[in-house]
Amino acid sequence: MLIVITLLLCAGLNSVQSLDILGVFPAQVRSHFFAFQPFMQELAKRGHNVTVISYYADKKPRDNYHVIDLSENAPVSEVNLPITRSAIKTFFIMSIFHVMGGPYGCRILLTDENVQNLWITQRKFDVIIVEQFDSDCALGLAYKLGAPVVGVTSHMLLPWHYNRLGVPYNPSYVLFDFLEGGTKPTFFQRLQRAYWYSHFYFVNKYITQRLEQSIVAEFFDDVPSLEELGANIKFLLLYQNFILSGSSLLPSNIKEVGGYHIKEPKPLPDDFQKYIDESEHGVIYISFGSNMRTSTLPQTKLESIIAAVQELPQRVIFKWERKTLPGNPKNIYVSKWLPQNDILAHPKILAFFSHCGLLGATEAIHYGVPLLCMPIFGDQPSNAAAAEEAGLGVQIDFNDLTKDNILKKLKTILDPQFRARVKLLSKAWRDRPVSPMDSAIFWTEFAARHNFTYKSRSAEVPLYQYLCLDAYAVLLLILMISVFSIKCLVSLVLNRLKVGNMKSKRE
Ligand SMILES: *[C@@H]1O[C@H](CO)[C@@H](O)[C@H](O)[C@H]1NC(C)=O
Ligand SMILES: *[C@@H]1O[C@H](CO)[C@@H](O)[C@H](O)[C@H]1NC(C)=O
Repeated sequence: MLIVITLLLCAGLNSVQSLDILGVFPAQVRSHFFAFQPFMQELAKRGHNVTVISYYADKKPRDNYHVIDLSENAPVSEVNLPITRSAIKTFFIMSIFHVMGGPYGCRILLTDENVQNLWITQRKFDVIIVEQFDSDCALGLAYKLGAPVVGVTSHMLLPWHYNRLGVPYNPSYVLFDFLEGGTKPTFFQRLQRAYWYSHFYFVNKYITQRLEQSIVAEFFDDVPSLEELGANIKFLLLYQNFILSGSSLLPSNIKEVGGYHIKEPKPLPDDFQKYIDESEHGVIYISFGSNMRTSTLPQTKLESIIAAVQELPQRVIFKWERKTLPGNPKNIYVSKWLPQNDILAHPKILAFFSHCGLLGATEAIHYGVPLLCMPIFGDQPSNAAAAEEAGLGVQIDFNDLTKDNILKKLKTILDPQFRARVKLLSKAWRDRPVSPMDSAIFWTEFAARHNFTYKSRSAEVPLYQYLCLDAYAVLLLILMISVFSIKCLVSLVLNRLKVGNMKSKRE
């Protein structure tokens, strides 16, 4: 009995103190929440009292997992993008996100009765997790609630994040979300990056943030600038990992947690299991994600895909919203819904033909499945470039989607040597001192336990100091004065000598 009590006491002393944690996810992008949901659930599983503000949080009540459902006040407008590739469209959609999405979501967030109750009742949290996407509005709410903030993303840094976090953005080698070129852009691609970086930086600063600042001011009269609040987050849990995205320059308060959403695979539904198990030559998995309607794929391109995979001995699983494909191809299993994580975990999945969303690409590297990337939108071009540079896959341009091209690319990644290398890469990916989930949870708890500042000074130093202009100017001045003095001295001495010479000649 005594032993049991002692053990219980010890366990009690060793267990981490339960924290009161708020997660605010005001963006209406379901695929982002796929990354955050497992994190918030895991925090609850480890004993913390978790409250989640979102449009998508699962509503199953649990003891220490509470949901404030924003979709009750605002209809969830599913982002349902047609599959076409055009730069103009990308930037048009980005701009809409920016100018309308952020401020629109801001108002929905702050007018929600349950959200308002949090600050009216002066609810205290130990740490607040805030999505860092196209809006900083939630940082105003977090400020009002007075707890340390941990930022989370489901993508790489966006143009307006670099500066305030003190991360150098340099178009010559830093991946850019919406653009091709990876870490080795051409001159034209650098030009594009330099332009679009500045474009979105200024749109965010002078339009989105100003609109949101004025909305926040309608509710609270003492909130500092949102930019400043963004710079003052304790940590940023960045959905990235160097094995896939390459080494990058990040300050110590930015933690790479790429892959933390991946769950242990569950058994597949019987029909999938049977279909994959019984494939003699393995299976190619085709899915263009949750935000795009595959049925908007132009007819000729769809026919090219079907014709290409029919030349291969592999079976195919294709995420397709309609019942059948044109021509009812024999080796293609279509389904509207697919348990992607569990499918990719099956050892007979040999290739993944994808739009290269970050979560999908991450699952591919986790399970060692080679990728054929057809980037369409958002961060997909940079994910595809990263996958190609890492050796995880190859890219195909949407505009080059012909049967021959698809066949050639699929054969490249189905090659046993290519696959063997991807398996090795996957081993490196999984080999970590701590799992990304443990790391994300550790730094969140750390932020609650230790109220210090961890941001890099690089975010604060004035530009002339950052570039060392003053110091170099002084050095240059000293150099110029020295050169000038030496020159004067030399000519003085020379003159003296000349005069002396002339005198001695005359004598
Ligand atoms: C946990 O969070 C919920 C929802 O925010 C709150 O109602 C409850 O009082 C909290 N419980 C504890 C023990 O703090
Ligand atoms: C954290 O530290 C800051 C700056 O020293 C202080 O203003 C703030 O009140 C502290 N917050 C908590 C929760 O202790």
